[in-house]
Amino acid sequence: MDRISIVGGKALNGSLAISGAKNAALPLMIASLLTPERLTLKNVPNLADVNTLARILRNHGVDLAVDGKRADPSPYLGETFHLTARDIVDTTAPYEMVNRMRASFWVLGPLLARCGEARVSMPGGCAIGTRPVDLHLAGLKALGAEIDIDGGYVVAKARKGLKGARVVFPKVSVGATHAVLMTAALAKGETVIENAAREPEIGDVADCLVKMGARIDGVGTSTLRIQGTSRLEGAVHTVLPDRIETGTYAFAVAAAGGDVELKGARKSLLETAFAALEKTGVGVTETATGVRVSRNSGALEPISVETQPFPGFPTDLQAQLMALMTRANGTSVIRETIFENRFMHVQELVRLGADIQLQGDTAIVKGVKSLRGAQVMATDLRASVSLVIAGLMAEGKTTINRVYHLDRGFERLEQKLSGCGASIERQVSG
Ligand code: EPZ
Repeated sequence: MDRISIVGGKALNGSLAISGAKNAALPLMIASLLTPERLTLKNVPNLADVNTLARILRNHGVDLAVDGKRADPSPYLGETFHLTARDIVDTTAPYEMVNRMRASFWVLGPLLARCGEARVSMPGGCAIGTRPVDLHLAGLKALGAEIDIDGGYVVAKARKGLKGARVVFPKVSVGATHAVLMTAALAKGETVIENAAREPEIGDVADCLVKMGARIDGVGTSTLRIQGTSRLEGAVHTVLPDRIETGTYAFAVAAAGGDVELKGARKSLLETAFAALEKTGVGVTETATGVRVSRNSGALEPISVETQPFPGFPTDLQAQLMALMTRANGTSVIRETIFENRFMHVQELVRLGADIQLQGDTAIVKGVKSLRGAQVMATDLRASVSLVIAGLMAEGKTTINRVYHLDRGFERLEQKLSGCGASIERQVSG
């Protein structure tokens, strides 16, 4: 497996391009199952998770074409995918494919809506907690699905078709909101989703569904109203910029010091995290082409943060913030309220010299004078990148093992950081 080595202590300066959002690109690709016509997605990031989902969709019968090189590419527009699910030839998403990525479970609703049946393996994904799918199943049942669990598979059927309904989620779930939203677009009549997730990626999928002919009200609020239709059309849609990648590089600049423009980033997608960063003493300004983050040699102030669904502080930036706060001028308190086991990075940060105590869902982070490079490894995507941030601050060399987690969600990470002056390189395993 590849490894990444970083020699810390170099400031970051210049600019780097923010890619399309992984967590929008994945459900948008899945939305292609809802129509026999062509769905064109622009700005798709080149990531392992995208490739995994492409394989799953092809297995269902989706034709996928990717545009080649263009003469005048925008520096921050990713790939263009054309997805056509003319005939769905297989409604099973097998274990070997689904177990690598949780979002692949989200094909369940669209397959069911389009074909009246679907058989999807229970999901795998990052090791960040138990991550049940009860809300997905309750949502689909409300729309009229009959659901069985058989041999590790969810078997869903809708013999009489799906019918719009009122779905009230007891808990905010991004995935369950995506699932019911996409499925309801092809159900008969009106569906109302209450306590829907408000993450911008939900809005991006809703915007695409509207282009495909769906009628959706309340986008961006916690009540979504969907008027179902019997057929959706093809569309062309551009994936919104990745706010988690944006926040990650913003924290990296804060960690290393320097001045970097995050090109293509949208500040409005990440107000809470930027506000937290500003409290630590880091400069954040919107520019005509993105967001500029700067930190001079001044100390980082400690902050206390609790993760919350959007518009709160994102759980997907909790590990990165914690890495930064290991060098703050005092004690920070970070509470994780979304996933019960999302502290896998703590023991690795401690290997670098961090002072972190865990108390249930809360981490008490006492800033230390310095971190020292070491060998580290992480078991999920955002935890891995928090080690990159720590490595940028640490004295000497940090080597991050099991880089494949990073490749799931960060496109050309070493190139983006080294382009701004970081000393970072990948050792490709033979
Ligand atoms: C999405 O996961 C993201 N994944 C995650 O990003 C992100 O951390 C998470 O939302 C929260 O923002 C994608 O978009 C592909 P949830 P999802 O359903 O949809 C519980 C990353 O690093 N829950 O909003 O799986 C669940 O256990 C990934 O890019 C149920 O109880 O998250 C959790 O406590 C990791 N029953 C909470 O809800 C259910 O049926 C929120 O999870 C579903 C969820």
